[in-house]
Amino acid sequence: MAKICLCLTAKTLDRNLEILGKYRKHADIAELRVDCLAPDERLQIRNFPQQADIPLILTIRRTVDGGHFEGGEGARINLMARGLAFADADRRRNFAYLDIEDDLNVPSLEEATRTFGTRIIRSYHNIKGTDSNLAEKIRSMPHSGDDIVKVSVTANSITDTIALLRAGKRSGKQEKILIAMGRYGICSRILAEQFGSFLCYTSALTETDSPAAAPGQIDIKELAELYRFRNITAATKVYGITGYPLNVTASPQFFNTVFRLESMDAVYVPFPANAVGGCIELANALNVFGLSVTVPYKESVIPFLAEQSPEVDSIGACNTVSRGPEGWTGANTDAGGFSDSLLEFTGRKNLKRARVTVIGAGGAARAVASELRRLGAKTLILNRTILKARELAALYDFAWGSLDSQGIEMMGKYNDIIIQTTSAGMGENNPTDPAALYRFNGKEEVMDLIYHPALTPFLKRAADSGCRVQNGYDMLIRQARYQYTLFTGKEFPEHLLPRIKFENSDGEG
Ligand code: ATR
Repeated sequence: MAKICLCLTAKTLDRNLEILGKYRKHADIAELRVDCLAPDERLQIRNFPQQADIPLILTIRRTVDGGHFEGGEGARINLMARGLAFADADRRRNFAYLDIEDDLNVPSLEEATRTFGTRIIRSYHNIKGTDSNLAEKIRSMPHSGDDIVKVSVTANSITDTIALLRAGKRSGKQEKILIAMGRYGICSRILAEQFGSFLCYTSALTETDSPAAAPGQIDIKELAELYRFRNITAATKVYGITGYPLNVTASPQFFNTVFRLESMDAVYVPFPANAVGGCIELANALNVFGLSVTVPYKESVIPFLAEQSPEVDSIGACNTVSRGPEGWTGANTDAGGFSDSLLEFTGRKNLKRARVTVIGAGGAARAVASELRRLGAKTLILNRTILKARELAALYDFAWGSLDSQGIEMMGKYNDIIIQTTSAGMGENNPTDPAALYRFNGKEEVMDLIYHPALTPFLKRAADSGCRVQNGYDMLIRQARYQYTLFTGKEFPEHLLPRIKFENSDGEG
């Protein structure tokens, strides 16, 4: 079972001990990053294993390998020897592991290390990219006895992460630590077990003076509690979300919480991807059971589907793929999530008497428009780019216009319900109001698909004018419930809803 390693990257040993104390219950191993210590602290490392009382890795990372040690190799080797020199029958007083780079050839140091009962982690770092001959690189790393081989490369694309996964599988039985650094390699950390990695390096990222030891590292508490890393085995069902940039997404919080509360052997992983085809290839290689698909891949994922629901056909966008016997099956849960949310909000059974304006004509608006048609609403589509409004309206015989004064005037006849579907106003301090010319009369029911911030400038203006308003949070949860059913074949456990909260969400799905 892969272990959790807490990287200690604070400037003093005392502070590192404090951090270790706070997160000890999540860590199997800790790594003392001596290169992160203040220079005078580096001389005091000898007693640290005894104080820390956890299997410790001694690492002095050079700047060329992504660390902070700027001195020469002589000084570095001296420091390593200083750290190891506490020869003691009680191994708890020694470092359990010493990280030695593959190009550091000091036989006497290796010999002494082994004499002290310390295991060598033979490491290779590529902070620029991923080597083309990775399997060969892993196989040819100098090692002997019970050394562990560590290969840490930078994934500049999702393809690099696939290369690491495949190379790991082809490189024999040697105990390994395999890491794809950067955003495209986040899955290689959470799924260390699937990648065949001995451990996953983490940091205590919520501590301000404990920075990530490498790009893409995950917070130790998040790895242990949200992703339930210690429960992940080869049998664990893997789900996830793909999109770009996918910087912050609420879905892992939602799904992993449901999986935990339901005691399911499943994990939901973010797969930020520079190309949707690469993500599908990785999902195949990892035997992923289902993916949420978000901006900008809801359309480009369609060619990878073996089957698709009628909604995907009519909307032209797919936000859910699940593994079927023939390949990937695509569905669109945005549509159902939206209409459930709207009907609940307005207290209506259908929209046959409603006159509705949709602001926007992008992917989200397409799902909204198809549902408005199904529910019988008389609809006006307004979009900044009028051509797109016309195209979308033509599919359903809706009225259309632009967001200029002429279009806004038309809204006066379609203002029982107004639905804002654009990204205008999304995120922190975004003052954009896509329909700033429209004056609310206070009777409109107004829905904005954005949920972060909770009130966009547009929605706030509506609320201030006396309108009933609703943001996109409810729709987000409702579409995720449909996804849960598609992923697992089970009804969503409604009784758990009060215990599931989306956090840190920015509207990427
Ligand atoms: P999504 O899948 O989230 O709907 P999209 O397909 O890229 O994303 O569509 C974005 C929508 O937001 C479009 O309707 C876009 O208008 P244009 O078609 O004119 O580009 C709209 N949009 C984005 N920023 C906007 C802004 N500042 N003001 C008005 N509309 C905006």
